[in-house]
This record gives sequence, C-alpha cells and structure tokens, in this order.
Amino acid sequence: MQHRARPILLVLALAAGLTAGPATPAAAAPTAFLTVDAGHTTAAVNSTQFGHIVEDINHSVEGGLNANVVRNANLKENGISSWSLLTSGGGSGSVALDTGGGLNAANPNSLRLTIGADGAGQRVGAANAGFYGVGVRPSAMYQVSFFARADQAFGPVTVSLESTGGTVYASAQVGTVGTGWARYTATLTTPASAPTSTANRFVISANGTGAGRTLWLTVVQCNAPTFAASGNIRADLQQKLADTNPGFIRVPGGNYLEGAVLANRFAWKNTIGPVEQRAGHQNDAWGYWSTDHFGLLNYLLMAEQAGAEPLLGVFAGYTLNGSVTPQNQLAPFVQEALDEIEYITGSTSTTWGARRAADGHPAPFPLRYVEIGNEDWFDGSGSYNSYRYPMFYDAIKAAYPQLQIVASMPVTSRPMDVIDDHYYNGDPAGIAGLATRYDSADRNGPKVLVGEYGVTNGSSANPTGTLSGAIGEAAFMTGMLRNADLVMGAAYAPALTSVDNWQWSSNLIGFNAVSSYGSPSYHVQKMFGTLLGDHVVPVGLTGAPADLRAVATRTTSGTLYVTVVNSTAAAIETQLTINGASSVGGTATVTTLTGDPNARNSITAPNTIAPTTTSAAVGASFVRTFPANSVVVLTLTTTGAATPLLAVGKGASLRATTPGYTDRSVRHSGGVAVTSVLTAASAAADKKNGSFLVRAGLAGTGCYSLESRDNPGSYLRHYNYQVRLAANDGTAQFAADATFCAADGNSGQGISLRSYNFPTRYLRHYNSQVWIASNGGTLPSDATANWAQDTTWRLGSAWWRSDANVTSGSYQSLQATTPGYTDRYVRHQAYVGYTAQITSGSSATDKQDATFRIVTGLADNSCYSFESRNFPGYYLRHSDYRIRLDAYAATPLYAADATFCAQPGNSGTGLSWQSYNFANRYLRHYNSEVWVGSNGGSLAADATANFAPDTSWLTASPWAP
Ligand code: AHR
Repeated sequence: MQHRARPILLVLALAAGLTAGPATPAAAAPTAFLTVDAGHTTAAVNSTQFGHIVEDINHSVEGGLNANVVRNANLKENGISSWSLLTSGGGSGSVALDTGGGLNAANPNSLRLTIGADGAGQRVGAANAGFYGVGVRPSAMYQVSFFARADQAFGPVTVSLESTGGTVYASAQVGTVGTGWARYTATLTTPASAPTSTANRFVISANGTGAGRTLWLTVVQCNAPTFAASGNIRADLQQKLADTNPGFIRVPGGNYLEGAVLANRFAWKNTIGPVEQRAGHQNDAWGYWSTDHFGLLNYLLMAEQAGAEPLLGVFAGYTLNGSVTPQNQLAPFVQEALDEIEYITGSTSTTWGARRAADGHPAPFPLRYVEIGNEDWFDGSGSYNSYRYPMFYDAIKAAYPQLQIVASMPVTSRPMDVIDDHYYNGDPAGIAGLATRYDSADRNGPKVLVGEYGVTNGSSANPTGTLSGAIGEAAFMTGMLRNADLVMGAAYAPALTSVDNWQWSSNLIGFNAVSSYGSPSYHVQKMFGTLLGDHVVPVGLTGAPADLRAVATRTTSGTLYVTVVNSTAAAIETQLTINGASSVGGTATVTTLTGDPNARNSITAPNTIAPTTTSAAVGASFVRTFPANSVVVLTLTTTGAATPLLAVGKGASLRATTPGYTDRSVRHSGGVAVTSVLTAASAAADKKNGSFLVRAGLAGTGCYSLESRDNPGSYLRHYNYQVRLAANDGTAQFAADATFCAADGNSGQGISLRSYNFPTRYLRHYNSQVWIASNGGTLPSDATANWAQDTTWRLGSAWWRSDANVTSGSYQSLQATTPGYTDRYVRHQAYVGYTAQITSGSSATDKQDATFRIVTGLADNSCYSFESRNFPGYYLRHSDYRIRLDAYAATPLYAADATFCAQPGNSGTGLSWQSYNFANRYLRHYNSEVWVGSNGGSLAADATANFAPDTSWLTASPWAP
C-alpha cells in the first residue's frame, strides 16, 4: 500500500478483524417490536445524503473511468513500458523511447518505431498491453486517436484490436503519415463474435508499407465505449456509479488531491483543454502515472452524468510527505482555488467560465460545497487552523458567500460550515458501532460530511469486502440517515478498484480491463441511495438485540421505506407496526441482501451476494422475519400526510391535550417541571421557561432531550419519577434520565414521550406537576384515569423566540443574502447602520465598522446584541426603527432596542434577527440602510417586496477579526 500512515486507532482497527469467523448456526430468535411513525417526520433527507468519493486510486481513473485502453499513452511512464515491438511474416524493426523532437513542450516523449523489413505479407508494429490487458467486447465501437510523424511520408498505417494470440477483432487503416506531427483517427468496431475478454492488445503497425521508415507516436488513445458523448467515461463504471443514485461526488480526492510532493498535487489547470497539451504527472499518492487525460472537467461531467453534484476538494498547501506551504507563499494556491471555482461555476463572461465553455461545457456546474484540503489532521504543525484554512475560507467566502466550506479537520480560527469525518475499520462491528455516533452530537456546530468510511476487510486476492463488512456499513448508514439534520452526506471510500492492481484493501466496485462488479457494500449503497424518502420518520425498536438496527424514511406522497439491518447470526422475527398513516397498502416490496457473511463478489462471481426483490402482504401491523446477516428494505405504500416531529436544534413547547387543560404547557419553575397556562400575553420569563431547545437524546438512539431555553445546559430529567430541570452533570445516569423517545400520542393524537430508561413510563402531567408515569403503577401519578390524554402532548412552537443558536462572544460580520446584494455587510457609519460592499481590499476602518461582537442579549439571555468592533461599548440598536450605533446606556429601553433574537432565516437562508421589543420587526436592509422592518407596515422599510431575503443574514467570518 502506498497510502500514508493512518492514525493509530485506525491502524489498530485495520489490523484487527480482517476476517470474520464462520457463520454460527441460528440461535433461538428473539422477538423484536418495530414501530414506525409514518405520520411524523423528523429530519429532511439531504439531496446529498449518500454519494461517492472518486479519486485516482487503484487505477480508478487511469485504466478505469478514463475510457482509453492504452497505457503509457504519452510515453512518460517508465520508458516504453506497456509498449513492445510486434512483427510477423518476417518483418523486422525495433521500438525505443525518443525524448527529442516531441509533439510539444507538454509531450516531448514519443515511441520511435524503426521499421526494417516490411514487405508484402509482413508486419511491423507497436503493441500496447493496456492496463492489465485490453478489454474487448462484442459489437463495440472504439475511437482511436494518436499523434504521429515519420522520417518520410508513408502509409497506410493500420490500427487494430486483437487477442494476444493474434486474432484480429477489428482493424482500420489511417492514411499516409507525414513528416510533421499530426493527429490521426480511426474507428474500430468489433464483431458480434468477439469474446468479452482482456487478453488482447492494441496495435499500430505498418503492414507491408513501411520498410526502412521510422515512425514516432505519442498521445495514443483507443477509447472503449463511453457512458455519454462527453467526458470519455467508461460506460460500465459510470453506469454503476449512476445506479446508486448518488447525491454528490467528492472530487478529486483524497490523497490524490494532495500528492506526495507539491509538484504532484492535483494541479487542475494542467488537466483541462486538449489532451495533447496535458503533460500529466506522477500520481505519487498511489504510485503510478497519471496522464491527466481525465481532468477536472471529466470529474465534473462524471458527477453530472451520474445525477450528482460535485463536492470539490481544493488543494490547500499540504502534501502527503508533510510539507506545508509557508503562509507568505500560500496566496497563489488560494487564487488557484478561486480560479477553479470560477471554472466550475462562473458565467461565460468570466475568464475561467469562458475556458470551461471553450472546453465544451458552457453551462456552469452546480457547486455548493468546497472542501479545503484533505485529512489535514496529518499536518502536525497547526498551519491548517492558524493560516491555511483561514486564508482559503476568507477568500472563498468573500468571492462566493453562498458556498458552504468543508473543513477537513476541526478548526477554531474560522467558522466551519461542514466538518469532514473519516472512518475506516477492519472490523465490521467497529463501523456498525458508529450507528449511534451522531445521535447526541452537538447540533450547534457544523454539519457533518462523512467524506470517507468503509469496512476494510478486503482480502489479499480480492480488493472488495465481505457481506459482513457491507452489513457493518449499512448499520452505520442507518445512524447517518437518522441524523440527516446533522449529517449532510456520506461517501463509502474508495469507490473503484482495478482487481489487477490496487493500493487500498477494500473498495466498492471492482473492475478489470473489460468488466466490473459491485461488492456487497455496493449493493448496500445502492439500496440506501435508491430506496430513500425525502424525510426521516421516527422508528422505535424494542426487544431487539443491539445489532438489529432500523431507520425509516418516507416521501411526501406516502411511499415508506423501512430499512432493517440485522448484523446478528440469527433470524429475528419482528412485529412491525405502522402508525400515523391513514392507510397502509396491502403489499410491500421487500429488497433483501443476505447470504454468507464471509462471501465476496468478484469478476468471475459477480452476483454471489446480490439483492433479491420479492413482495409481501403487509398492513398497519404485520410480522416479518429479518434473516441473519441481512439488510432489508421494505417499501410500503401509505396514505395520509406527515407532520414534523421534534426538529432537533429548534425551539419547541409541549402543550397538554387533556380536555379542559389544553391551555397548559410544560414549563419549569423552581427547579421542577410544572404545567401552567401560557399564552402569547404571558410574562416573558414564563414564556422562556416554557420553551425548550430540542436536542438529540443525550443517551438514546433516535430520541430527544429538552434543554431549557433560559438555562442553557439544563434539561428536563426525571428523578424519582418526577420531572425536574437540572444541569447536565455529564453522567450516563443524567443522560438516560434526560432522554425521551417520541411516539404517536397514547390518546391517538399528538405525541407521547417515553422515558428512555423506563420504557413503560411516559411524560405525564398530573395535578400541575410533570412525572414519568406508567399506566396503573403504584404512584398517584400512575393513575389510569386520563392516563392516555395526560401522556399525550401537542407539539407547539417555542413560546419564546430565539430559535437558533449563535456563538456568543465571537466576532462576526452580517452579510446580506438578497440576490444581487450578497457582497454587502451591515456596517455603521457616522453612528448609523448601513449595508456596504466590503471586500478584502476595503480599508481597515471599513472592515472594523462591518464587524461586531455578538454578545448575550442586553435585555434577554436567549437573544443577542451586536457590539461594535472599533467602538467597544457601542451597540447596534434601533431608534425610530432605524438602526444606529449608540453608546451603552443602562436603561431597559436601550437594552430592549439593542437586543435581537435569532430565528431561522425568513427566506430559508441564514438567520433573521427579530427585534426584542417589536416582535414583528426584523433587522432589514433597505436602500443601503438598515432598519427593523415589518412585512407590510407603513414605513418604506416595511415594503413586502424582498422582505424575506432582506431580513435574512449570513453570520459571516469577521472582516476585522
Ligand atoms: O480512501 C483512501 C484514502 O484514505 C484517501 O485518499 C485519503 O483521504 C484517506 O487517507
């Protein structure tokens, strides 16, 4: 393997468990109960939920996706390796590397074919052995192109595809080769009788026409059938990628992006334009030559043709040998990244957008995510946090504020929109154990990209993994999908491998020169990627071993996908209950992946492990046996709408449903939970303590914890069965006591919240107190009367307003989101609020005027105030609805005017800042001024046009940190 050392834990994990033991006989099956709440949704499934990473590892590209079957096409890989002299009938000659008189500066090398005897019936040529053979298929068309010159014009020259034994499957003649370099083309079509085979060669020869002549060849291509007209992408491999319905493809790596040394990074500008102008580079990340014929545009086309968006990794000044670009030399690489983004997204009136159009793709590509570097935790110098990430972040955000920046390791110097987590483990259980990894992860931080993961249990003979590995990955995927509010995407890695030469032990798709297969992991990816709804719905699993995992999604139109992963060696009979649907169709489609857990697929046995599709009679309640070692997706048809349930990271209130008490909400008072009447007119303090921030359960899979809105860090928890508010002490006991699992309401409406560690007990109001109660226990609060109604709650929006969290104490700039104005930031000028264009070239004063410290609200600790960067002690406040910068005054009016409550952006983007004392008014830019505007009031700044975008702001990195 040529890859660099992985962190110690990972190495240990890789070393462990490379093989799983033999299947054990099925034990007595436990009985499990799986409840699916089709009537509620939790997180929205991201369009990028499941995708791929494609880089040139394992010949994924050279000899893989790049359709050219010719290896060492421009004679830069180890002399004339892959080329040899071919003669027959008494012809004679020699082949050698020529490094002079080449095609151009990028391609100075050529293959020199010196022809001796070449009379009638004789043949002298150069044969190329391809990438571990040359793939030949029946009835297939190959497009040939090469550059050639001769010492004296002669011809014709013959190109052919033939077996290594000399059986010619297709040949064509190209005309006379002249003395100057020129491009020659031909089409080779194989007959229907040609065998699908790899023991073949590609030949350029003089067949009795070249005696005494010398022929030079370079940039030789013989392109196998491609997926589409553009991109030159090998059809079967691209088809396999597309068949998984990927939401994104992370390109171009991975280690390949970085290179072992600077000169061998992915220098994207060298990979575009005519292939004969590309010099290629040593792929020293993975140990073979890259022609760069599959360049940036090809990667983008691959994503486009697979129906995915590209997730771009940009080189960020760190290479695999540990070299770090010094700060004073990094700017050109930042510019290189900006140019790359312009190439991908710019209009044709931009320099690089025009280049893209010239290269054949006038339309910009969609791009939302840009990752700075790759696995920069390997850089022990701290440069990523201290200057590399900041320099890229600032420049990209300034030029492209709409882009989401992915950090390859945690940083503190700048915000992270997304953090890229990688997980490899030789033990399927190690990856399966990550299924709960994100259940209680912080929702205030960045989103998560699991940019690489996989069970690394390939064998020395087969670079693709076992079914048990695939099941481990499926288990992890249930957790990533359940946490779709946090995990925006995930990619198994690596996606492709040659079965003849690989550097990574376990990969998704195996291929040789002519055919390919999907590993069990591939089928898991395809099942998750294609049998996927648009929202996650809650599931509850009881009575099951921990190794049975489930997740469910549904579409708006009612298709329900229930995915069950059984990692155990026993079949598990499970009672399924589909709640919350008006009707459940009588038949489900059952897609099942199962078999010998140690089995793999291969080129010769591609379908040893493959999904089967059957149908089954189902209803609102039915029993299903999930086979040992299986991944099963049930596709059901339901009717009835779904409503959102407890959105993690958002505010909520719990309102009683018991007749006669429906004006009551749960709030805390004096450290215990109570129910009391709350209305819009209630005192602010009461509304605040009746508002909770929904957190992923501190303890439990798919469950929730309710954090106090006015006592951050304190949660509702039960203690001696009574529910109280207490500070999280970090213990497992607290986590369990503070975790509740949502289920359909016990009374048939609303929701019920089941105690995580006392599953028969539900959150109940009883005599104005709140308990966890069982139906008919020994406590007064266990009374059976009204139990169902008392334990059923209506989920309300938070009584209090700040619905989004912002890091208090940080310097930020507020960036407009209105299309056409995204280069504007809130700034004060002569003590009045404006929006102004701020760029990296702006004056220091302008940058300071556009920077604020976001502090705890002067009037309310769940809201925020904005303190000027260059006038500490001065805050943004409204006065006559106009925003001004005024010195702090210790009056309630000043505090209220200077306090703003963060809400999810009115336009769906960023945040909206609601005035603390004028709840219908939001921080708004209007004609370059900043106001608190309402949607349709009497002021000009209350105009309804553009209200939502004008009142939605990005909290951008500070112009003056
Ligand atoms: O996926 C294989 C390699 O693993 C990637 O190139 C790199 O990012 C990681 O170390």
